[in-house]
Amino acid sequence: MPIINWDNRFSIHLKEIDAHHQHLFALFNRLYDDFVGKAAPQTLNALFDELIDYATYHFSVEERWMRDEGYPELELHQKEHDLFSKRALEMQGDYNAGRRNLSLEVLSFLHNWLASHIQLSDVEFGHFLAAKNSPGSGAAGNSSATDPVVPNNSQGSATP
Ligand SMILES: [Fe+2]
Repeated sequence: MPIINWDNRFSIHLKEIDAHHQHLFALFNRLYDDFVGKAAPQTLNALFDELIDYATYHFSVEERWMRDEGYPELELHQKEHDLFSKRALEMQGDYNAGRRNLSLEVLSFLHNWLASHIQLSDVEFGHFLAAKNSPGSGAAGNSSATDPVVPNNSQGSATP
């Protein structure tokens, strides 16, 4: 059963980034289900690796969008990503060295970070884009991207 469900609160109204976030939720839900289902540590660690790899890829794409759009909070946002990556890589190192296995503590870190970062920080970027691209902003047409703001594309579920 999914522990984190996609809904409109998480949408930043940017199709590519919303799809990435939904995929991160799906990976997290799979990890949680496998943990609860007492999957083998190797299975859990492989899934954890996949989630970290995907998050790393996703951060680079998101930061590229922010750079291209001239987002003034990019540096601060990047620091949040870096903190997450640092913590996640420490955990990954611990698993690979056999010092610890996936735990509820780790799952709760991932869950809280994903939910709060997307809802608070990523959504702010969505607001910035919406303001930048609104007809009254005087900035319409200045975007380096092709129509990045799309209407609600929430799919109601984290499962692809
Ligand atoms: Fe982000």
